[in-house]
This record gives sequence, C-alpha cells and structure tokens, in this order.
Amino acid sequence: MRLAPQPSAQPLRLVVLLLLAAAVSTSPVLSTGCPDRCVCDDQLVVQCAGQHLTTFPVNLPLATRQLIISNNRIVELPPLALNYLSDLVYLDCSNNSLTEISESTFGNLRKLAYLDLSFNTLIRIEDRTFGPLASLVMLRMTDNPGLSEIHQDAFVENAALQVLDVSRNNLTAVNITSLIALPTLRSVGLSGNPWSCECDNEDLCLWVHLEGFKFQGFISCSYIVGLQLRTLCHQTLGSWDYLFFVVIGFVIFAAVPPVNFQDCHEVQLDCGPTESV
Ligand SMILES: *[C@@H]1O[C@H](CO)[C@@H](O)[C@H](O)[C@H]1NC(C)=O
Ligand SMILES: *[C@@H]1O[C@H](CO)[C@@H](O)[C@H](O)[C@H]1NC(C)=O
Ligand SMILES: *[C@@H]1O[C@H](CO)[C@@H](O)[C@H](O)[C@H]1NC(C)=O
Repeated sequence: MRLAPQPSAQPLRLVVLLLLAAAVSTSPVLSTGCPDRCVCDDQLVVQCAGQHLTTFPVNLPLATRQLIISNNRIVELPPLALNYLSDLVYLDCSNNSLTEISESTFGNLRKLAYLDLSFNTLIRIEDRTFGPLASLVMLRMTDNPGLSEIHQDAFVENAALQVLDVSRNNLTAVNITSLIALPTLRSVGLSGNPWSCECDNEDLCLWVHLEGFKFQGFISCSYIVGLQLRTLCHQTLGSWDYLFFVVIGFVIFAAVPPVNFQDCHEVQLDCGPTESV
C-alpha cells in the first residue's frame, strides 16, 4: 500500500520558501558589496587573509568563487553563511582557530574543488563532514596538532579527490578502505604523524609500499615490517596469506615505479624496532 501524501506538505514547503525568501532579502551575507577588511575583485575573488578577523566575514558577494580567509583567528565556519556561496570553487581557511566542522558546514558547496583547513585546531573529522563536496579535488588538512581521528568513511563520497594531505597531525591510524576506492587519488601526504605499528595499520603499511608513488615523501614502514605485521596480526598464516605475499611481492617488483628518494627526507611512519611490534 502506498502512503498518501501528507496533506500539510505543500503549504509547509511554501512557508519554508517564504521564510527563506525573507531571510535572503534581509540577510547581511548576500550583497554585491565587499566585506569589511577584505578586497574583492571582479574575478569574484575575495581576499581577507591576515586581517585579524575573529568571525567569518559578512557581506560576501553571492557569486564569490574564491574565498581566502587564511591567517586570521576565525573560530567557526557558519553553515548558513557559507552555504549561500554555492559557486565557491576555492576556499582557503588555513591558519585560523577552527576546532570543529559540522555535518552541515559544507552542505551546499558542490562546486568546491580546493579546500585548505591546515594550521587550525581541529580534533576529529566525522563521516559526513566532506560528503557534499562532490567536486573536491584537493584537500589540505595539515598541522592540526590535536587532530587524532578521521572517520573511516570521511572521504567515501569524494570521488573526484586527487590530492589529500594530512601531514603533521596527531593521527595514529587510518582506515584505508575508502581511500583505496577513490578512483583518481594520486597523492597522499602522511608525514609527521605518530603512526602506530599495531595491527590496525597493517593495511596502511602494505598500501604505502604497493603504491609508493602516491605518497609525498617516504614512509619508513618497510615492506618487511609490513610483512611482519601481517604475520603477527594473523597468528596462523593460511595459504591465502602466502598467496598474498607472492602477489604483493610480484606487484612491488614488477609494477611500482621507484620512490623518489629526493623527497625522502622525512621519516613518516615510524614503525620503530620490529621487537616492539
Ligand atoms: C598565521 O597567521 C599569523 C597572523 O594571524 C601569522 O603571524 C603567522 O605567521 C601565520 N602562520 C602560518 C604558519 O602561516
Ligand atoms: C594526541 O593524541 C594523544 C592520544 O592519542 C593525546 O594523548 C595527545 O594529547 C594528543 N596531542 C595533542 C597535541 O592533542
Ligand atoms: C574500515 O572501514 C570499513 C568501512 O569503510 C569497515 O568495513 C572496516 O571494518 C574497517 N576496518 C577496520 C580495521 O576498522
């Protein structure tokens, strides 16, 4: 049996639309002007870097395509104001005081291709945070010293993602299941995190070795440590595991281009002495 349509749905929608229209016509975020202390150009670039801002700028042109609010002390990205900017392609929020990004923060930014959240004070990333960003190509989220958790499904919907940099955070583990599935991912920055050498990073170790060319810099978690982790994490090795070793070994020697050792100055995944594993 089909559910009858809710009799109140249509009027309710109308009310919501009217309210939205009212909000739009009075909203300070919608204007053709330019926010205080920012510079706006006719290419729809709004530049507000280093202006001692503590709150997100108001009075942003509705058609803004690039917004640069780096080097301020902004503590929050207000979802309502941000989501009016549906043409936004480039958003640089680096070097602020952001501690939290809510599920609705980026809800309407479907054209956003570049997002920089580096040098903030983020602590964790939830699963839906980046979900709406269907066009996101590059995400920089480095140098958040307390960032210790990224939900395993945080990037599931970012099918356009090519470059992800989570260097110099406080990450000990990352579940790579959804990263592996991203079709165009070609570069991942992992350096400067306190990666653990426990079984939960076994897959990360092997992935790094299998696709070393994707990783900026070099990861010290060697193929051997990866294999040792696999041996230790699977108390008894089945025939599948031996097959796995053979396949992995073959792929490494046959297919992986050499890692660029010029970028290898940073030891990233500090797996330490194998006895401690
Ligand atoms: C962050 O911004 C401040 C100004 O608010 C500036 O002095 C500092 O150098 C910037 N830090 C980085 C890492 O860019
Ligand atoms: C990093 O995470 C650990 C727990 O994994 C925590 O004890 C430590 O305080 C965190 N560091 C910072 C700077 O928040
Ligand atoms: C990693 O995440 C996937 C879902 O994305 C989940 O099925 C799997 O159990 C997780 N692995 C670990 C080791 O937590």
